Amino acid sequence: MTVSNRPRRLRTTAAMRRLVAETAISTDDFVAPLFVRERIDEPVPIPSLPGVVQHSLDSVVAEVLRIRSLDIPGVILFGIPARKDSEGSEAWNPDGIVQRALEQCSDAVGDDLVLMADLCIDEYTDHGHCGIVDERGRVDNDATVELYCRAALAQARAGAHTVAPSGMMDGQVGAIRAALDGDGFTDVSILAYAAKYASALYGPFRDAVDVEIADGGDRKSYQQDWRNCREAMAEIALDVAEGADMVMVKPASAYLDIIAKARGELQIPLAAYHVSGEYAMLKAAAANGWIDGEAAAFEILGAIKRAGADFILTYLAVEMAEILND
Ligand code: PBG
Repeated sequence: MTVSNRPRRLRTTAAMRRLVAETAISTDDFVAPLFVRERIDEPVPIPSLPGVVQHSLDSVVAEVLRIRSLDIPGVILFGIPARKDSEGSEAWNPDGIVQRALEQCSDAVGDDLVLMADLCIDEYTDHGHCGIVDERGRVDNDATVELYCRAALAQARAGAHTVAPSGMMDGQVGAIRAALDGDGFTDVSILAYAAKYASALYGPFRDAVDVEIADGGDRKSYQQDWRNCREAMAEIALDVAEGADMVMVKPASAYLDIIAKARGELQIPLAAYHVSGEYAMLKAAAANGWIDGEAAAFEILGAIKRAGADFILTYLAVEMAEILND
């Protein structure tokens, strides 16, 4: 048989495959999410996120030092306050848990790591919504954005290099940019959770931050519907126009089409969030011996990069870096 085109020629040896590989993964691709909880002395494991913990103020500093030594360029902090209220006021309290953690991490690593802060109030509200709830039970967009601006300033004052608004309120990026600029924080960047879907894959995260949405509610009135792609492009375009420095698609592996399409339309960095449920599924299957966890992790994170993400927020960051540095 005469076959002239034989793509398999380029798969014959490991060196050949390495030479023609289109996608690479390095420690530079990762941002490690970190949870820090008020009033604990020891890290507390999160059962639905095996290997991930709620940090104390001391252990979070140790962890950022380890992350720096692993050559990972960034972390994103989430806070679990001791006290929650209807407005989520601990989110902008200068002594709030994330602000204190940012100050300490900033003292420990300075500019060696990009210190990002998730900017939302759901971890801080007693009803678990990402915004203020009005008398009719609806999330009030514009009143919420004002609270986000307060939180952005508190995070910037505490040393955040980047704030990452994740609440999916309209106009949040523009308002936060104006608030930061108005206070002299022109160098603090914004990573916008621009296309964030109302996903069933955030379950373990809500265990991690102790959030339950009141009355069995959900976030479908502000986060996106998984059926839509064009809507994501519109959301991203708005965030870019409002001044986002980087935008994010979330979750990641079930939304590779969104990542690929966004990459084609964007001239600024694109992030993807490999979320808690994606991590938990991988870990559960690997723990049962049903898949090779390490190989699957490379394949999935590699697919997210191949689709077009410039960097990935992932709970796998530290273990992947340990493997890559080996
Ligand atoms: C909201 C926020 C969420 C996540 C990141 N920021 C939860 C939500 O929207 O309900 C989820 C991250 C994950 O699942 O890993 N502050």
